[in-house]
Amino acid sequence: MPKCLIALLFAASASGALAAESAPGPDRQAELLHRLKHDCGSCHGMTFKGGLGPALLPAQLAERPDDELVEVILDGRPGTPMPPWRFEIRPGEAAWLVRQLKKGLGDDR
Ligand code: HEC
Repeated sequence: MPKCLIALLFAASASGALAAESAPGPDRQAELLHRLKHDCGSCHGMTFKGGLGPALLPAQLAERPDDELVEVILDGRPGTPMPPWRFEIRPGEAAWLVRQLKKGLGDDR
């Protein structure tokens, strides 16, 4: 299926190998954004300015490697309240979420 291949190549060049596995489609993107606001927002703040968890705003994340942030989302931080999401969020989806957070979603939501 050439169309899939093109999508995969695009995702791979946009953000490294992780995203190539499964860049989320539009419906799943909406679902992930909803989750980001409600599930993640319950600890990180609805506008990601921080709460129980640290702020996840572009300024805080800019210098952090994507891979490290993706890993925290997938596996959590043992010994802290940050839970693992691997069972519900795929690696490519976590990579996409990190890109959204780095671009910034907090201000208008
Ligand atoms: C139960 C509370 C809780 C929920 C829900 C939660 N987090 Fe966290 N998160 C934390 C805490 C606490 C930390 C800080 C862990 C530490 O001390 O290193 C953290 C850390 C992080 C970090 C690393 C930040 C940094 O500066 O190192 C990222 C990225 C992150 N969370 C993303 C998410 C995402 C995305 C979701 C939703 C899918 C989510 N979190 C849901 C509590 C939560």
